[in-house]
Formats: sequence, C-alpha cells, structure tokens
Amino acid sequence: MFVVVGVTGGIAAYKSVSLVRLLVKAGHDVHVVPTDDALRFVGLPTWEALSRNPVTTSVHDDVAKVRHVALGQSADLVIVAPATANTLAAMTAGLASDLLGTTLLATTAPVVVAPAMHTEMWRHPATVHNMEVLRARGVHVVGPADGVLTGGDSGPGRMSEPEEIAAAALALVERPRDLDGVSIVVSAGGTREPIDPVRYLGNRSSGRQGVAIARAAADRGARVTLVAAHLDADVRPDPRVEVIAVGTADELGTAMDATADDADVIVMAAAVADYAVAAVSEHKLRKQDSPGGLTLQLTENRDIVSALVAARRDGQTIVAFAAETVESDEELLQRARAKAARKGVDLLAANAVGWTRGFEAADNALTIVDRDGRVVATASGSKDDTAHALLDAIAAIRAASRG
Ligand code: CTP
Repeated sequence: MFVVVGVTGGIAAYKSVSLVRLLVKAGHDVHVVPTDDALRFVGLPTWEALSRNPVTTSVHDDVAKVRHVALGQSADLVIVAPATANTLAAMTAGLASDLLGTTLLATTAPVVVAPAMHTEMWRHPATVHNMEVLRARGVHVVGPADGVLTGGDSGPGRMSEPEEIAAAALALVERPRDLDGVSIVVSAGGTREPIDPVRYLGNRSSGRQGVAIARAAADRGARVTLVAAHLDADVRPDPRVEVIAVGTADELGTAMDATADDADVIVMAAAVADYAVAAVSEHKLRKQDSPGGLTLQLTENRDIVSALVAARRDGQTIVAFAAETVESDEELLQRARAKAARKGVDLLAANAVGWTRGFEAADNALTIVDRDGRVVATASGSKDDTAHALLDAIAAIRAASRG
C-alpha cells in the first residue's frame, strides 16, 4: 500500500521514526513528507534511509513528476504524525504552503492525524474548533494520549504510541467490503416534539453515533440512507450518504416506513421521543395564561421499530439501540436483553448514558445482544470504531442466516 507519512514540527517527530519503520516492516511503500520545522527535530537522511524513498519538503523539487499533487493522488492512506496545532489549523483552512499541504489537498485517501501539543494548546477554542471541523470532514483522529509532556507538565497532548497510530490507520484501509450492494437505512439524532411555534420537547442525542454508522457502512460498500433528526451542527453526514431530514417522531416514522421496504438492514440509532404534546399551541404560550405553573398533556408516540419488525420481510435485518441510565454493566445487559426481546429486533446495541456520559462524547461503549439475549459483541472506542463493531455483528448474523 502507498502510505504518505506527514511529519510536522514537534518533538514527537522522533517517535514517528518508529512509525515509519513499522509501516515499512509491514511491507508498505512509505513516502515521508516532513515540514521544514520537522527537519529541525529529525533530519532528512533519517527519513530517506528508513522509508527507502526520496524525501523533500518543497513543492519545487521533482516538478516534472508534478510531485506536489502526485503523492496525494497516489496515496492509499495519509498519516500526519505528529500533527502540531499549527498543522491542524493549516489543514482546517486548506493551506497549500508546502508539500504536505498540497498533498493533503490532493488526496481522496483516508487521512489520519495524531495530534501532539501542550495541553493548553489542545484545549484552546481555536484547536477545539479545528478538530471539530476536521472530524466532520472525515479526518480520523488518534489520540492525543494523557501523560507527561516535554516541559514536565502533564495532561492530554502526548502523541499516541506509533503502534497504536499504525494499527488505527491500517484498520481504516483494510476494512472489509462485506456490505457491497447492501442497502441500509440508519436513523440518527434526536426528535423534537413541538409545544408551540418556538418551543419543543427534545433530548440530548447529537447524532454522532448514527452518522458514524452511516459512514462506516458506506466505507464497507453499502448504499446508505440516513434519516436525520436534528443533528448537532458539527455532525455532518458523509457525502456518499443520502440524507432525509426529519423533525418529529411522527416524521421520522413516516420516513422509516417509506424507506424500509427497499432496505436490507435498518439501524434505529435515533433517540425517538416516546411522547408528543397532545395539543400543540398555534401561538407562543404566554406566562400569563398559566400563572404559577403549566401542565402539558402528552400522548404516547407509536413504537417505530416494533412496527418495522412486524412488517419485516425475509432477509431484512433490524437493529435497535438502547441508551440506559444504569448502575452497573449487569444492569445494562439485563435491560438490553429485555428490550431486544420486547422489540423483536435481530440485534440491540446498548450503551450507558448519564449527565456526563454518552451524548456529546466522541467515544462510546456498546454491548450488542441478539434476539435471544446472547452478547454477540462488546466494543468501546471512537464512535467510528463502535460503528464498525456493530457492522461486524450485522454482517455476521446476515452471513449466519444465509447458512
Ligand atoms: N424507538 C422507536 N420508536 C419510539 C421509541 C423508540 O423506534 N417511539 C426505537 C429507538 O430508535 C431505539 C429503540 O426503539 O432503537 C429503543 O428506544 P428506547 O427509547 O430505549 O425504547 P423504549 O421502547 O422507549 O423503552 P423505554 O422507554 O421503556 O426504556
């Protein structure tokens, strides 16, 4: 595989020496693209010797081979390690001021970054924003790890270990295409039930996990429809995914019913309101209309996934989610089993949520059970990782049911 390793100007550049060695040893054709600053930490001959390929920082070398775009075009995978705050900002802005910048703009290959910087820089709103933009664009982020930093201070900012970066990056390109031609509908986000023209009852679902499942399914060859209810602003669906935007539980149900017939796999990752306001006010409710307190009458919404299960056709796989507030792993499992049986779904992915866990986080932990309550997988890590673990489980039960 043609792997580009971008190295930028941080002390962790010395650790990328091991990263390049690991990739070369694994049999990959590695092309190192350092920035000028990176060469102040580790010299050009080291990179050339280890990668066994010529190394330059400049867009003006090897012009005959259009090197400034050729590397990006040829790449199957691009890793930037370490990725400094400055490089991450340049990537966010799309700057093409050196060979690494042009390579990153010219590539359609998966891009993995391994940030390394001091904790204050990592937590600065500018970096936080840049990371959000890059993640939304599909850039994969490994680390940073928590630990002692160069100045003796400690906190998040250490570049992840080379083995971890290599494993995460290679896993991306070595994903199976086991959903080739499969059609999958994923619901994501949280529904909102209007109270009046300006207010609603909602929930804290960001849509991150469902959007990650949609992207992962597209990576594995599926045709994907995403029924999206109020995704957080920084959660952007993959361009390969067809998006149907919905607002209320009723709209989400209608969209699911309309798309379910053609779907081989349905994943209900959306947080659907169980109740809707019985009488939605046509005008904004005024405090003087309900002095001292307001009682809202709610009516129960229909259970969408149970209806999909009742109408399931042969060969269709239906997956539900359960976000539960629980005291222990055993309690989560017990609730997952009960819910899977009650809904009659093929798989149910349960995760623990609370005031501080589950929703806006980049990471997740899933316990996946089948209809008989057997635990078929547990997964934790980024929402991309847990998405792939769920798709592994889906692919496995589909293969088993085909015999
Ligand atoms: N779900 C649905 N229709 C609803 C409510 C939920 O299809 N009206 C789906 C969700 O998308 C999820 C699964 O059912 O995949 C479980 O959602 P949850 O809210 O945990 O289930 P409930 O049946 O509401 O269970 P309870 O409130 O008793 O925990």
